[in-house]
Amino acid sequence: MNWQKRTKQWERECVKTRRYLWLRRRRLKMFQISPNNKVLDLGCGDGLNIKLLNQMGISKVFGVDISSYLLKIAQKNNPQTKFYLASAKKLPFKNGYFDVILIDSTFYHFFDDPKSLIEIRRVLKKGGKLNFIEAHKSFLRKLIDKFTLSSFANYLPFFKGRQFAYMAEKISLARWLEKEETFLKSLWKYGFKKIFLKRDLLSIIGSYQRT
Ligand SMILES: C[S@@+](CC[C@H](N)C(=O)[O-])C[C@H]1O[C@@H](n2cnc3c(N)ncnc32)[C@H](O)[C@@H]1O
Repeated sequence: MNWQKRTKQWERECVKTRRYLWLRRRRLKMFQISPNNKVLDLGCGDGLNIKLLNQMGISKVFGVDISSYLLKIAQKNNPQTKFYLASAKKLPFKNGYFDVILIDSTFYHFFDDPKSLIEIRRVLKKGGKLNFIEAHKSFLRKLIDKFTLSSFANYLPFFKGRQFAYMAEKISLARWLEKEETFLKSLWKYGFKKIFLKRDLLSIIGSYQRT
């Protein structure tokens, strides 16, 4: 399979996996985003979080992603939202434009790229919040990942899809899981102060304030 086909298939699997709405809602609520806040969903994928935020009364939300395929779905699901095809490296917004930046399961793609971190800080206003939800090296995750990679996974459609998505991202995900703690400790260097950091069975949920 060539890389374009693989990317397309990964994007499709991205839309199919991680669909637990109750869990997403619960995590989003932890950030206590105000309805007046201007929010950027960075790496918004198919815009599921934007839909949930709108349902929670938070409607000033913008979406950015590098996948035009996923953005098309996002736009269809959220006709009233403005979406931008862009990378975290170069965001098409003025300095201090947002009160909140939300990053859900996307940080692991660019957490070790200083350009992206500087750009995130630039578009956040002083006192604004960087909220993120990322994979965490928990016992349950290790167990699920082990099963996902086993031959049994081939017989279960959910795990088969997850296996593909996992394989395509294995390197960046492994790099994140290995450097997660060091990275979080280094966020102050980029001008972010910790508000809270919580771990659940699968993920780490963080909220940092732009100084
Ligand atoms: C696992 S998906 C998560 C999508 C969405 N946040 C969600 O929770 O459903 C990761 C997303 O990050 C996007 N992405 C990867 N690298 C990116 C970058 N440098 N800038 C912006 N988006 C990026 C991918 O296209 C993909 O949509």
